[in-house]
Amino acid sequence: MNKPIRIALTKGRLEKDTVALLEKLGFDCTAVHEKGRKLILPVPDANMEVVLAKANDVITYVEHGVCDMGVVGKDTIMEMKGKFFELVDLGFGKCRFALATKKGYDFYRGYGVKTIATKYPNVARSFFEKKGMDTEIIKIEGSVELAPLLSLADGIVDIVETGTTLKENGLEVIEDVAPVSARLIVNTVSLKMRHAEIERLITLIEENI
Ligand code: PRP
Repeated sequence: MNKPIRIALTKGRLEKDTVALLEKLGFDCTAVHEKGRKLILPVPDANMEVVLAKANDVITYVEHGVCDMGVVGKDTIMEMKGKFFELVDLGFGKCRFALATKKGYDFYRGYGVKTIATKYPNVARSFFEKKGMDTEIIKIEGSVELAPLLSLADGIVDIVETGTTLKENGLEVIEDVAPVSARLIVNTVSLKMRHAEIERLITLIEENI
């Protein structure tokens, strides 16, 4: 038998939906459910191995070919770019990138350079570049909503899912930047070398989403 197809899954928010999808395909994910602190789990009947990683690392492992495939949010793909094929929109993990400010703040008023806090500096930069607007981008590692509240930034570019975090902190969306959902990505060499197996899997996934 061929060595198992390795699929890197994003830990956390996307993990549950991805495992549910694999189970819908008929694969036995018992080892993933009973993982404890283990990071590489077999899906024996599918000749597959699941690797649990942080979103950015999913892309790194797939790009380097140590994982054949990965499931990762479009947000991370837009931020990191990289050399791989993005083949399927899996339809879950739906949210959006948005520009948000303190409620009632007139963001576009005046000509001064606006300061934007974000976990996604590349996404924010390209959004404002397209508008031809000069901005100062400040990279924040988490809870970006704090930045306008502490007057570090005029606005944030961040993921909005339910909108609760913005609402509870007196912020509001003033513009959508891009829709986001989970994507299936594939290493470029794996797609050539293991074409039949990967294509079979993709067809199965497409029939089940
Ligand atoms: C994300 C995002 C927002 C929040 C949006 O943060 O950065 O803060 O979720 O979700 P909502 O619209 O449903 O309230 P995450 O929970 O990943 O934590 P972090 O900010 O610490 O990275």
